[in-house]
Amino acid sequence: MAAIIVDFQNCFIFSILISLFSLLFYRILVKKQNPSGYDLPRSPPALPLIGHLHLLLSTKPHKSIQKLFTKYGPLLHLRVFNIPFIIVSSASVANDMCKTHDVSLSSHGTLGIDESLLFGSSSFLMAPYGAYWKLLKKIAVTTMTGPQALERSRGVRAKEIARFYSTLLHKAKNNESVEIELEAMKLTSNIICSMSLGRRLSEENGEAEKLRGLVTDTFTLMKKITLTVVLHKQLEKLGFSPFKTKIMGVSQGFDELLEKIFKEHEEKPDGHQGSDMMDALWTAYQDSNAEFRITRKEIKSFLVDILIGGIDTTVEAIQWTMAEILSNQNVLERLREEIDYVVGKTRLIEETDVTNLPYLQAVVKEGLRLHSPFFFVSRMLQEGCKIGGFYVPEETPVVVNAYAVMRDPENWECPCEFKPERFLASGQEDERKEQAMKFIPFGYGRRACPASNMALTSIGIAIGIMVQGFDWRIQGENICMEEASGLMTMKMARPLTCTPVARGKYLST
Ligand code: HEM
Repeated sequence: MAAIIVDFQNCFIFSILISLFSLLFYRILVKKQNPSGYDLPRSPPALPLIGHLHLLLSTKPHKSIQKLFTKYGPLLHLRVFNIPFIIVSSASVANDMCKTHDVSLSSHGTLGIDESLLFGSSSFLMAPYGAYWKLLKKIAVTTMTGPQALERSRGVRAKEIARFYSTLLHKAKNNESVEIELEAMKLTSNIICSMSLGRRLSEENGEAEKLRGLVTDTFTLMKKITLTVVLHKQLEKLGFSPFKTKIMGVSQGFDELLEKIFKEHEEKPDGHQGSDMMDALWTAYQDSNAEFRITRKEIKSFLVDILIGGIDTTVEAIQWTMAEILSNQNVLERLREEIDYVVGKTRLIEETDVTNLPYLQAVVKEGLRLHSPFFFVSRMLQEGCKIGGFYVPEETPVVVNAYAVMRDPENWECPCEFKPERFLASGQEDERKEQAMKFIPFGYGRRACPASNMALTSIGIAIGIMVQGFDWRIQGENICMEEASGLMTMKMARPLTCTPVARGKYLST
């Protein structure tokens, strides 16, 4: 009898808790936020309760949303539960919006998991536009991504490029196939680690593989991270964050890796007066008179941004561009002709050659246009304002569908074809297009990627080496150009694997 009473009591308490939670859930996540005074753009039909969440969760969210653009126009309002967000799929709307509201659109929002090194409260990427962001941007540009910093670090990159070439040559000698993504990942992570952390990570003790795993895990989590950013206020009110454990797991992995590097730097016998990124961060950490004295956690979080911002993006761009070149014999031939003519056949292409190779630059841009690593460029509106004639309230996520913008037939002739010539028309034409937000793989405005030039050159030199140095045998008749499903970023469904055949031998290995 007593057991029945206890069970009944438990059941009763449980029911009350469920009812309270449902009420809370309803008020916080379902009840429509009062949009009075707001005149949001039109919204396509939504599902009960979840709104348009299913579109974000679909296997190809960029394509699902691109379809809406064709049917309902370039400026839409969608919602995740009761949270509205704006989606822009046209360059002209995006351009007007950016011209008038760049400052208001200069924040990427908040994850709401302060302690995370990955997109947490210390992150550069998630920092609101202000003094802390400006300090870190200055450090990024002066020590790594700006023209002078790139000039200083050219030797570091040259060593890694030689290593990359030497690996491919070795594979060619042994008639072994190459997984382009893996080799590009090794090249890019070695370059970015050397430039940001002061050294490459060791393959022998597993450091390098650990980093590659963490970067891949971050990109796999990107959908969950995006949802957490969109819903962070509501999740805070509900007092739980469904993806926190997973996000913190990756953050912890980065923490262990970077703490080790930081300790090595602390114990460095020759002082910290150098001009590399770690030295600059160290100075800002030590300087008690600095306007901003950054903490150990802030340094690690900033380095996480550099590693995840720089590695996978560059790798995927290299892989997709190479796949396009190998699928378009005429492009391969024209590119090789240009390199052979400008660089010659007796030495290997160098980074400084890239500026003299307009067709190579056009190939890289066309690769990024068709296969931009990020489908969406997402910002959080800081102040209510008019976008495309509609009033949008503050704290509304505003997402530019870069995928749709860069395949919009209004702006691009035969938008789905790989035609690098379109970027050759004239340098000025090209620049105008970029300004008009038609070509936005690196985002837009003041929060655009601070490393776009570095990325363009890195992709260019990797492609240049593969095209100049080797013929490539592919498996089967065609390369599979399918995109992977279920992700928020552009990955190949099947990694590009092919076998190099050496064309010449430019290095002693
Ligand atoms: C193909 C290569 C790359 C692509 C496509 C790319 C793309 C992007 C995009 C779309 C953004 C967001 C911009 C916005 O909101 O408007 C971004 C931001 C950022 N990227 Fe890149 N990126 C690339 C390479 C790199 C590299 C090599 C680094 C570092 C060495 C890097 C570091 C960053 C950082 C730190 C931010 C945050 C900037 C801020 O919040 O102010 N990226 N990138």
